[in-house]
Amino acid sequence: MKHSLWAVALIVLISSGCNEDRPVPVFSPSQLIPQPQFISESEGSFLLPSGCSLYTASHLLAEADFLKGWLADGFGINTTSSSDSAAADICLSTADLGLGDEGYQLTIDVNGIAIVGQTAHGLFHGIQTLRQIEPQTFITKGKTVVHYPMLTIKDEPRFPHRGMLLDCCRHFMDKEFVKRYIDLLAYHKMNTLHWHLTEDQGWRIEIKKYPKLTEVGAWRTEEDGSRYGGFYSQDDIREVVAHANSRHVTIIPEIELPGHSCAAIAAYPQLSCEGKSIPVEAEWGVFKDIYCAGNDSVFIFLKDVLTEVMTLFPSEYIHIGGDEAPKFRWEHCDKCQKRITAMGLHDEHELQSWFIGEIGTFLEENGRKMIGWDEILEGGLPAGAAVQSWRGVEGGIAAARAGHEVVMSPTSHCYFDYGLESTDMFEVYEFDPIPSELAEDKHHFIRGGECNMWTEHAPQNTIDSKVFPRILAMAEVLWTYPAIRDKEEFHSRVKTHFARLDALGVDYGFECVPLAFTTTIGDSATTISIAPNIDDLSIRFRSVGDKSWEEFTQAISTSSTANLEFQVERGGKLYPTSIQSHICYHQALNKPFELNFEYSPWYSGGGDSALVDGILGTLDFRDGHWQALQGGNVDLIVDLGVETQLSNLSSRYYFYGNAWIFLPSKVEYFSSHDGEHWTSLGSVSHAIDPKNKDQLIQEFPLETTASARYVRLVGHNFGQNPEWHDAPGLASWIFCDEFVVR
Ligand code: ACM
Ligand code: ZN
Repeated sequence: MKHSLWAVALIVLISSGCNEDRPVPVFSPSQLIPQPQFISESEGSFLLPSGCSLYTASHLLAEADFLKGWLADGFGINTTSSSDSAAADICLSTADLGLGDEGYQLTIDVNGIAIVGQTAHGLFHGIQTLRQIEPQTFITKGKTVVHYPMLTIKDEPRFPHRGMLLDCCRHFMDKEFVKRYIDLLAYHKMNTLHWHLTEDQGWRIEIKKYPKLTEVGAWRTEEDGSRYGGFYSQDDIREVVAHANSRHVTIIPEIELPGHSCAAIAAYPQLSCEGKSIPVEAEWGVFKDIYCAGNDSVFIFLKDVLTEVMTLFPSEYIHIGGDEAPKFRWEHCDKCQKRITAMGLHDEHELQSWFIGEIGTFLEENGRKMIGWDEILEGGLPAGAAVQSWRGVEGGIAAARAGHEVVMSPTSHCYFDYGLESTDMFEVYEFDPIPSELAEDKHHFIRGGECNMWTEHAPQNTIDSKVFPRILAMAEVLWTYPAIRDKEEFHSRVKTHFARLDALGVDYGFECVPLAFTTTIGDSATTISIAPNIDDLSIRFRSVGDKSWEEFTQAISTSSTANLEFQVERGGKLYPTSIQSHICYHQALNKPFELNFEYSPWYSGGGDSALVDGILGTLDFRDGHWQALQGGNVDLIVDLGVETQLSNLSSRYYFYGNAWIFLPSKVEYFSSHDGEHWTSLGSVSHAIDPKNKDQLIQEFPLETTASARYVRLVGHNFGQNPEWHDAPGLASWIFCDEFVVR
C-alpha cells in the first residue's frame, strides 16, 4: 500500500512548516451512534489523498457508488477505481467474518481504509460508520487534506428488525421527505421503514383496480372547509422502494384492516356493514365503520388491493393493521352474524380472528408473511402471523410463547407522537425489546423493535423535532448489546452527534422536557422554582395571555393563582411548545387527605397528593398533573386540621370526548366536623354538550358560608360512552385536578 505512516508524517511536517497555527489532529472516533460492539483505537492517522483509489468487489458497486458520492460531496475527494485491493486507499469487500448478516469490520491503518462486510448490507453499515468518524481536515496549498484516525471496529446488530413507523395518512408526507427519512434511518443503521399507507383520514397508495381509493379516499374536508390530502402513485412507490433498496432499508407497507378503513369505505361504501356513504374522516380517533366481515366482496377487494401491494413491495412481511376495530357494526349486521353462525364462531372477536386468518392465508399463498398489531391475538392468532406489540409488551410475550415472531413497540417507550413529558430520550434508552419475564428459549422470537411516528398532531415540518433525538436512543437500543451501553455516556455522544444532524439538515428537538419545576408550599404562598434538565438553555416567562416575555432569573411566588407560560431556547432552537405551569395557593395544601378511589397508573398526576399539590393540570391531558380513572368516581376527603370558615370549594376536570374523557355528570361537595357525619353543601353541574369536539378544562365551583374541619369532593363519572360515540358502551374516563379549598 502506498501511504506509510512516514509519508503521512512527512506531509504533516512539510505543511506544518508553512502554517504554525494549523490544528493538531484531534479525533473522536468513539463518538458513534449506535455504539459499535467492539472498537479499538491506535496511535496515528491515515491520510486520504484527494485523488483516492478505491477497490470494490464486483458485487458491491452500488455501495461503492454511495461511498464515492459522499466523499465527493463531503470532502471534494474524487475516487479512481483500482483493481488491486492491496494497493488501494479504500478497499470494499465481503467475507465470512463469523458475524451476523449485517456485521462488518472497519479497519483504518497505515495501509488505508478497509471495510469488510459479512454481506453487502453489513458493508453498507461499515460505510455509515465511516461517515460518522470525524476526520481531521484542513486545506494545504488549496487542497483539502483528510486524516483518519487509526482504529479497528468489529460490529453487528443485536436485533434483526430495527424500524420506524411513519404515518403518512393523518398527515401526508411528500415522496422526497420519505426518501430523506430512509437515508436518516440508514445513517443510524435502522433497517426497516414501516410505511403506514391507509387510514380513516386518508388512503395514500394508488391501486389501479380501485381508482376511487385515491380519487375519493385520499382527500378529506377539514373543519375550515379546505381540502387536504395526497397520495403516492405506483411510480412514486417504485421510486421510493428502489431508493430504500439502495440504502438496505426494507419497507413494510401497512394496509389497515378491518378497522381504520373509513377512507376506503368513503370511496366504496359497499365495503361496510351498512353500505351507507360516509366521508373520509377529518377527526382523530377510532371509528365504528369498518370492513364488513360477512360480505364476500370485501375479501375480493382486499385480496385485489394486496395483490397490487405485493407487486410494489418486495418485503417478506406485509402489515395488515388489525388494531382498534370496534365490533359495534358487526354486532348489528345480519351478514356478519350469519358469518359467525356459518363458521361456527363464538363472537365478534373470533370473527376478527377469522377475518385476519383469511388475509393471512392469502398472503402465505403468495409467499409473504403477515404481521399485525397485537389485537390480532384476540380470538386466536393465525398460524405464521407475526405480532407487533403496542399495548404494552404483554401481547408480544404471549405471541413469543406461542412461537410467533414479534416486533416490540409498546406505547411506554416507542411512541414518538407522544410529548417528551410522556417519553423522553432517556426513557427510550431504557427500552428493552426482550421483557425480563420471557423465558430465554423464547428470546429469539423477538425480532426487534420499532418507534412509531403517528401524525395526528404532526405535519411533515414537525416530524424531525419529534423523531430526533429520540430515535438515536432507539437505534442504539436495537443495535448495541446492553452490556456496553451507558446512559450518561450515550448523552455525551448525542451532544456530539447534534453537529452531524446539523450537517444533515435535521431540525432535531430536545432530549427531554427542558425544565423541572419545584413547588414549595409556604404559610401564605406557593413558590415555583426551576431546575433546567439540560445545559445551555435560555428561559423566558410570562402570564398566560400577556404579550411580552420576561427573562426568568429567580423563583416566582403567588398567594392565589398564577398561570404561567415558559419559553425555552437552546442554541437558537426553540422548544416546540411553550411550557405551562399553573400554580395555586389554597387551604387544602399540605393537609392530610384520604383517596376513596384508585387512579390509573397511566394518569397518576404525580402520585396520591396530585389533587391537593398546588399544581394545576394544563390543556395537555398528558402533562403529568391530571389524576384520572376509567369508570368510577373521584372521591376525596381533606382534613383541614381545625374548624375552618369556608368561602369557596372548587374542582377542575378535563373534557375530550374523542379520547373518552367526559366531564362529571355532577360534582358534590360535603362538609363534616368529625369526619364521620357529612352534610351536603350542594352539587354543581355544567352545560357543555358531550358531543363538543374541543378539548377543554371545566371548573365546578361552589360558594359556601359553611365552616368545617373536613371537606369532601365527589365527582360523578359520566358513565359509558354514549350510543353516538365511536366506542359506544365502553367505560369513560374522568380526569381531575385539583380540589381547591378556600
Ligand atoms: C396503534 O397505535 N393503534 C397501533
Ligand atoms: Zn357486516
